[in-house]
Amino acid sequence: MNEPNKIPVHIAVIMDGNGRWARLRGKERYEGHLAGMDALRETVKNAADYGVKYLTVYAFSTENWGRPQQEVDALMDLMCKGVEMETPQLMEQGVRVLVIGDRSRFSDKVRAALDRIEEQTGRGERMTLALALNYSSRSELTAAARILARRVAAGEIAAAEITEQTIAETLFTSAMPDPDLVIRTSGECRLSNFMLWQASYSELYFTETLWPDFGKEEFLKAMEAYAARDRRYGLVK
Ligand code: FPP
Repeated sequence: MNEPNKIPVHIAVIMDGNGRWARLRGKERYEGHLAGMDALRETVKNAADYGVKYLTVYAFSTENWGRPQQEVDALMDLMCKGVEMETPQLMEQGVRVLVIGDRSRFSDKVRAALDRIEEQTGRGERMTLALALNYSSRSELTAAARILARRVAAGEIAAAEITEQTIAETLFTSAMPDPDLVIRTSGECRLSNFMLWQASYSELYFTETLWPDFGKEEFLKAMEAYAARDRRYGLVK
């Protein structure tokens, strides 16, 4: 039986290594993303079964627009098809989908698909799956600063009333607790503009495994590593 306080409430994942996984097999990059989608489906199930309440995945960063157009198009296509195909199973599993990030840059078709999956899964209570799409932490914090500056200028709040709590409530992640654990696959050891505010006290877990190979065994290894960590939040035990 898993000890309840050793189960992360919120896991955030930087799903990295799809391209390398494809190259190693002589495949096209988009085939790596397709395999990444399979790993995502499996991780959603593993996390929900393990008792995780929030799973956030970095699926498309604001920087990813700079990739070759063909790859961006393939990722947009995967988003639309993925939403269509995965919705019934997510509903069955009690998984609610939430999109975090600036969706204004997506096409009408992608935006409609994102709205649809949020609406159709909205009653799921077992786990929340947050898809970080056109997300970056710095742009999120910049947007929050603008919102709060406008509220101060309008006389709704005083500058001195802006607290850490006010800022947290102005971020895309306002409806979620901070991540307990951030996982990054493929051997890169950095946060790459992901959850910089929210991950202040998160445990970080890096694995050499490429994202498409991140299956149940790898997931459980990460859970084991998390359970062995001693979280002090700057205090003395
Ligand atoms: C990073 O691997 C992965 C991405 C930028 C996309 C993540 C997408 C998925 C896992 C598929 C699910 C998709 C959506 C849109 C819901 P990389 O391409 O940077 O790999 P590399 O560093 O080896 O090149």
